[in-house]
Amino acid sequence: MFGKNIGIDLGYGYVKVTDGQTAYLFPSTVGIGQKIRFKSLLTTFQKPTENLAITVDNKKYFVGQLAIKQSEVVTRSLGRNRIEDTSTKVLLLAALSLFADKDDQSFNVITGLPVDYYSNFRDDWTELMLGMHAVKIDTGQQEKNKIIKIEKLQIIPQPFGTLYDKILNNEGEIRDESYNDLKIGIVDIGFKTSDFAVADSLEFIDKLSSSSEIAMSTAFNFLTERFREKYFINKESYELDRVVETEILRVAGEAVDVEEHINEAFSIVANKIATEINNIWDKRELDKIILTGGGGEAIAKFLLPKFPNMDLIKGAQFANVRGYQKLCTNLFRNTYSFSDESYA
Ligand SMILES: Nc1ncnc2c1ncn2[C@@H]1O[C@H](COP(=O)(O)OP(=O)(O)OP(=O)(O)O)[C@@H](O)[C@H]1O
Ligand SMILES: [Mg+2]
Repeated sequence: MFGKNIGIDLGYGYVKVTDGQTAYLFPSTVGIGQKIRFKSLLTTFQKPTENLAITVDNKKYFVGQLAIKQSEVVTRSLGRNRIEDTSTKVLLLAALSLFADKDDQSFNVITGLPVDYYSNFRDDWTELMLGMHAVKIDTGQQEKNKIIKIEKLQIIPQPFGTLYDKILNNEGEIRDESYNDLKIGIVDIGFKTSDFAVADSLEFIDKLSSSSEIAMSTAFNFLTERFREKYFINKESYELDRVVETEILRVAGEAVDVEEHINEAFSIVANKIATEINNIWDKRELDKIILTGGGGEAIAKFLLPKFPNMDLIKGAQFANVRGYQKLCTNLFRNTYSFSDESYA
């Protein structure tokens, strides 16, 4: 019995998780689980991430979409620097539960911490998560008891996932050696934070790496303000993702095209990020800058023209988690085949 190799990116906005075959995304929201008084009889097939409830340490939590819809108290604030924060543990176990086929499922996990917290909190985190966790999971039908066992856990600076995604193939082998000698900047724009990291010959350079609070939520706050002034409507930040995606705001049943406001908000964020990059890095010293994160995708068209050596990675919102999973396969594959074939 050997662990599944899983990558988990616990973002402030969204949890991304993959086993290399299937990837899931759900909002990083945790609420107190309650009895749902009436379940629509007409509910059609739902994705497992839309109905995620988990009992951890004898408390039931709603997670992701279900928390947004049904819980009274919803937190979307991962205090990732606070080790006692339960929502992080709940999100991590909920993410793993999506891959727990067996009643007693083992995992090897790679995950990331923001660069500001990495050095201080890595060890506490590892200690908290390693080992066995008895949970109950409920994805709409029936509650099931499961043991989630985290056999191996590695924590790396968050944006390094993107780097591993670039250099490793799906089997976790090195496919691109050209990065070995380069000095690379990685700009990871997320929901609530942006991380700036430097890798010199694949080594993490702590003193050139930092985090900032300018991210997609900066653009969302701007939009909330605009929509309030102009249309007298109040939109929460988790409702804005949809508005941004469709570029349509519904005001009293009418569809209003808000593309212009979105572009304004995104270009403001791109300008602020550009200023930060110029403050922390001498960009002539970097061979390449990789733009990543869901927010990277969002503001790329405003940010890329400012940096000739910057590229947007494909599938940017999932780039970190893909890299974590590939690294996991690279590090733990050997344990698997060795024990499996030699001792089975
Ligand atoms: N394809 C896309 N186009 C435009 N915007 C996108 C796209 N995908 C994601 N986003 C935006 O990216 C944001 C979330 O990005 P991401 O999942 O990287 O953040 P996070 O990792 O949860 O946050 P943080 O890094 O701050 O912890 C969403 O709010 C959404 O607006
Ligand atoms: Mg992120």
